[in-house]
Amino acid sequence: MIRLGIVGYGHRMACFMGGPMKNVEPDFQVVGVVDPAEAFIRKRLADWGCTDQKEVPFYPDVATLVREGKPDGLLIGTNCAMHTPFAIQAAEYGLPLFLEKPVSTSMEQAVALEKAFRKSKTEVVVSFPLRVSPLCVRAQQAIESGEIGRPEHIAGLNYVPYGTVYYTPGSYQSLQGLFLQKATHDLDYMMGLMGSRVRRVGAMASKGRVFGGSKPAGLVCSKCDEAETCKESPKNRQRNGSASGKNKDHACVFSVDIGTPETGICEDSSSCVLEFESGATGVYTQVFFSRRDAGRRGSIVSGYDGTVSFDWYRNDITLVHHHKPFTDTFTSKGGANHFGGDDELASDFVDLIHGRIKRSRTPIETGLASVYACLAAKESSETGRFVEVRPVEM
Ligand SMILES: NC(=O)c1ccc[n+]([C@@H]2O[C@H](COP(=O)([O-])OP(=O)(O)OC[C@H]3O[C@@H](n4cnc5c(N)ncnc54)[C@H](O)[C@@H]3O)[C@@H](O)[C@H]2O)c1
Repeated sequence: MIRLGIVGYGHRMACFMGGPMKNVEPDFQVVGVVDPAEAFIRKRLADWGCTDQKEVPFYPDVATLVREGKPDGLLIGTNCAMHTPFAIQAAEYGLPLFLEKPVSTSMEQAVALEKAFRKSKTEVVVSFPLRVSPLCVRAQQAIESGEIGRPEHIAGLNYVPYGTVYYTPGSYQSLQGLFLQKATHDLDYMMGLMGSRVRRVGAMASKGRVFGGSKPAGLVCSKCDEAETCKESPKNRQRNGSASGKNKDHACVFSVDIGTPETGICEDSSSCVLEFESGATGVYTQVFFSRRDAGRRGSIVSGYDGTVSFDWYRNDITLVHHHKPFTDTFTSKGGANHFGGDDELASDFVDLIHGRIKRSRTPIETGLASVYACLAAKESSETGRFVEVRPVEM
C-alpha cells in the first residue's frame, strides 16, 4: 500500500484523492496532512470519500510529516501563493511530488523554485491534466506523425462557462489574474503540441467591463433588492441553466469588493499573440463571461500539409489533409475528470512511486515554462509592450 502525505487538503485535493487517485490506486494510505484547517477537514473526510481511514494524522510542517509519517510521495494542493514555498521544502526529500498549478505566482517565486529544483532529485507531476488528456495526446500523435507537416501556427481558445468563480472578494489578490490561474494550463499544452516553448508574448486584457462595479461592499444576493431581475441571482442562474457548481447565495459579482482595474481585478477576457522558440507563431484567447453551450476549449494547429483541431467540450478531433482529398475525425468518450487528464496524472504519480517510470510527463520544467510565459503575458497586458519570456535553465 502506498503512503501519501498531503500539504493543503482542500477542495481540489479532496476531489483528486477521492476520484482519480482511487481509480488508479484504490489502496493508498494518507499518512499525514499539513493544513491549518484540521477540524474542518476531519469532519469532511468521510463525506468527501477520499479515504476510508478513520484517523489521519496532522503535522505542523512538512519536515515532521516526512520524518514521522514516512510517506512514499507528497502532494501539494494549497492555495496558489503557497505552492512554491512548500515545493521548495519538498525538493529536499527526493520523494515523488504532485504539485498543483500554477507552480508559482510571481517571478521571484518562480526563480527560487527553478533554483531549488536544479539540484533536487525530486521528480514532479505538475497538475496539468490537459497536456496528458487522451484528446490532447491523440492530437499530439497526429502532429508527431508528420501528417500536418511542421507545426507553423496554433490558435488556442478557452471560452470558460464557469468563469464567475473568479469574481469573489479577494480573488485577484489570491490568483494574480487569469493568465496565471487559467492560461497556465493552456499555454502548457500548446507548448507541448508545438514541441517548443514560447519565446515572446504580446497580450491584452479587458477588465472591469463585465464583472466588478459599484454595488455596495458586502452585498449578497439574499440581501439584494434586484435579485428577481439580476442574471446572476441563484434563482435566475437556476432558471437559465447558467450556474456553475453549487448554485447558492453568493457575493455580488458587480460589487466594489470584486476590485477595479486600478486595485486589481481578474480580467473579463484576455488574449495573447505568441512567438515560439521554433519560429512558429500563435494566438490564445480566454473569455470568462461566456456561459452554457458557449463553452469551448481546444486548439487549431496548422502546418503546410494539414490542420488538426480539437475541442474538449465536444470531445472530438478533426484532421484535415490540405493536399489529399481526406478529412479524418475522431471522437472520444466524455465525462471524466478534467477530460480524462486527472486519471493520467494520478497514474504518472503512482507509477513514479512504484518506480515503474523515471520521468513524469509534466515535470517541473513544464510548470516553470508555463509560469514564465504567463508572467510575460501578464506584464505585456499591463505595459502594452511585447515581453520576452524567461527561459527555463535546468
Ligand atoms: N489542476 C487543476 O486543474 C486544478 C483545479 C482546481 C484547483 N486547482 C488548484 O488547486 C489549489 C487549491 O484549490 P482549492 O480549490 O482546493 O482551494 P481550497 O481553499 O479548497 O484548498 C486549499 C487548502 O490549503 C490549505 N492551506 C491554507 N494555508 C495553508 C498552509 N499554510 N499550509 C498548509 N495548507 C494550507 C487550506 O486550509 C485549504 O484546505 C489552487 O492552487 C488551485 O489553482 C487546480
